[in-house]
Amino acid sequence: MSTATAIAHPNIALVKYWGKRDSELNLPATGSLSMTLDIFPTTTTVTVDGTATTDVLVFGDEERSDGPAVRVSRFLDIVRELAGSDRRARVETVNTVPSAAGLASSASGFAALAVAASAAYGLDLDARELSRLARRGSGSASRSIIPGFAVWHAGESDETSYAEAIDAPDLAMVVAMVEKREKPISSREAMRRTILTSPFYPAWVSSTAESLEAAAEASRAGDVERLGRITEVNASRMHALIQSCDPPIRYLTPVSVEIFDRVAALRASGVGAWATADAGPNVVVLTRPDDVPAVTAALEGLAELAVARPGPAAALVSRTNG
Ligand code: PMV
Repeated sequence: MSTATAIAHPNIALVKYWGKRDSELNLPATGSLSMTLDIFPTTTTVTVDGTATTDVLVFGDEERSDGPAVRVSRFLDIVRELAGSDRRARVETVNTVPSAAGLASSASGFAALAVAASAAYGLDLDARELSRLARRGSGSASRSIIPGFAVWHAGESDETSYAEAIDAPDLAMVVAMVEKREKPISSREAMRRTILTSPFYPAWVSSTAESLEAAAEASRAGDVERLGRITEVNASRMHALIQSCDPPIRYLTPVSVEIFDRVAALRASGVGAWATADAGPNVVVLTRPDDVPAVTAALEGLAELAVARPGPAAALVSRTNG
């Protein structure tokens, strides 16, 4: 038996990934830029067992046989193909981020799984290979392999679509957890609907490619104001795009919108703060570390808050090969 344990953290995109060019390989329509957080880690242990006949997924205390188990098993098929193995595995995963609430639990989940599973199957992958592998589980997971700020290059093939680190100014994020329940429509389904039904999709793709270039430039130059502005505009465009589907999808709730308004008011009073949100009602506020107290004070009472700073790379914690 071979066992490996890995830890990975969620990431929040400043320039978002929304839309696939290839849903089998999870190649995105555009590149994206994110910050890996130092909070809400996922810890995953993979045990490869020569005698088992099926893969087993234990999520927290619960053995699963539904959607997530199927997704994990399909992901393990990719790892098995790379390793030339047909052995089944037991996957035990503990999330500290509220699952499927638009807080990137699939990003930390598949990043931790990529690191643990590749090690348990005896592979020795570098960061780029791990990022490509994690991408196959969930696009945004490609970025959680990387510490701090990362750019995921859209690429044109499996080989060229991976994330890598980018220089960035000193920043923090205030995570406002509006709701912890599972989102009603998965990002995979919502992306598919967007491409099929939104007349705005082509404009999203072209404007996001431009935003990514500008954001990468601002990030390298340490231009917090410009990076912040791009972040909030890009998130607003993504949610407008999602709302423009037929039938429409709306992830933001009135409380989410109230948080965007309070952040705008804070900015009007001279505090550098910019709001973003993934495919869920939770809102994340990008700010300078010194301005965190002003942001948390402005959001007091609206949602449960957590403060994040740039976090570490996905990492192997232990490995026993037998
Ligand atoms: O990685 P997925 O398939 O869960 O998609 C994530 C999409 C967003 O979180 C909304 C945006 C992003 O870039 O993380």
